[in-house]
Amino acid sequence: MAGASTDVSRILEALRRVPEPELNKDIVTLNMVKDVVVAGSSVSLTFVLTTPACPLKEEIEKSIRDELLKLDGIESVQIKMEASVPQVRDMQGHEGIPGVKNIVAIASGKGGVGKTTVAVNIAVALARLGAAVGLMDSDIYGPNVPRMMGIQASPQATGERIQPLEGFGVRLMSMGFLNPGDRPLVWRGPMLHSVIQQFLRKVDWGELDYLILDLPPGTGDVQLSLTQSVPLSGGVVVTTPSDVALEDARKAIGMFRQVKVEVLGIVENMSYFVCPHCSERIEIFSHGGGQKTSEQFQVPFLGEIALHPEIRTGGDCGSPLAARGPESPEAAVFYEIAKRVAARVSVVNLTASPEQLITIRP
Ligand SMILES: Nc1ncnc2c1ncn2[C@@H]1O[C@H](COP(=O)(O)OP(=O)(O)O)[C@@H](O)[C@H]1O
Ligand SMILES: [Mg+2]
Repeated sequence: MAGASTDVSRILEALRRVPEPELNKDIVTLNMVKDVVVAGSSVSLTFVLTTPACPLKEEIEKSIRDELLKLDGIESVQIKMEASVPQVRDMQGHEGIPGVKNIVAIASGKGGVGKTTVAVNIAVALARLGAAVGLMDSDIYGPNVPRMMGIQASPQATGERIQPLEGFGVRLMSMGFLNPGDRPLVWRGPMLHSVIQQFLRKVDWGELDYLILDLPPGTGDVQLSLTQSVPLSGGVVVTTPSDVALEDARKAIGMFRQVKVEVLGIVENMSYFVCPHCSERIEIFSHGGGQKTSEQFQVPFLGEIALHPEIRTGGDCGSPLAARGPESPEAAVFYEIAKRVAARVSVVNLTASPEQLITIRP
């Protein structure tokens, strides 16, 4: 009769045949399995995902089960899923934010393409999937996060530290909380830089798996200030399919590449409109440009979001569609995109080679 240790090694051997589909290595080598217990014909184990928003959760769970049930004498398998989000590896000398594992910037070349909408919904989706999430509105001149999250309040300060507000499980900071109403801010670059630094370093973000940054449009001061002061896990570029928006999206990709920030992928927003009366699909801003641009620049395509009146009303009324949960058909696309972003962050963190992370300054 085989002893307990032989049983466990037999199980580990079987688990070595289960690959992590995106990292292309087996789950034992990647240290994703723990607490393997064999009791008679039943096996229990804990699988540690790299994000609670893992798009491959079910696929991996099934592969583990299938592989173990193939073994002689194993009749039942219990898998407990846990997640531990890896931290960005930065070797460019940027000072991180203590407790914040990953910072993800949402950018576009152009305004009005849906950056804030995507940022808000990704943040809410990731939080709903179990991640600790913050959302920092870096659009100092045109902050829309308070409205889209339905939060209008003043953040409290304790000593030098500012307490973030919270909406839909997401910790929030925005200039809109500090300068509510329609009074415009007229500031020059150094002031902007200083506000961004305070938002990053003086806000009590606490422990976060993901801090999402909603960037202002373009490739100006704020974007540079951000990309050069904190380690970014990557940037997401939002575009509409029109040629004009794509032209600007390419600039946003170029900006990330220039400052050595990984482009996590492209989101095509306002991809098409389905007529509620006749169900005809109308491609108001053309279609497929996001996908084509992603191929051209060899960056992943993260998904396409239809033009839908509820996305606009959700934004205006402060109830983002993602708050309806992953089962809601209208929210599903935001969950898919959020999971792809989270998976890309994991892959980047676990596979980036040191050479890719070193900048040699002349
Ligand atoms: N897919 C969509 N369908 C309908 N309205 C949208 C969609 N995406 C964004 N909007 C609306 O378009 C406007 C601009 O979006 P916003 O997220 O503020 O863009 P940006 O941050 O890029 O300037 C907002 O009123 C928003 O509610
Ligand atoms: Mg915006």
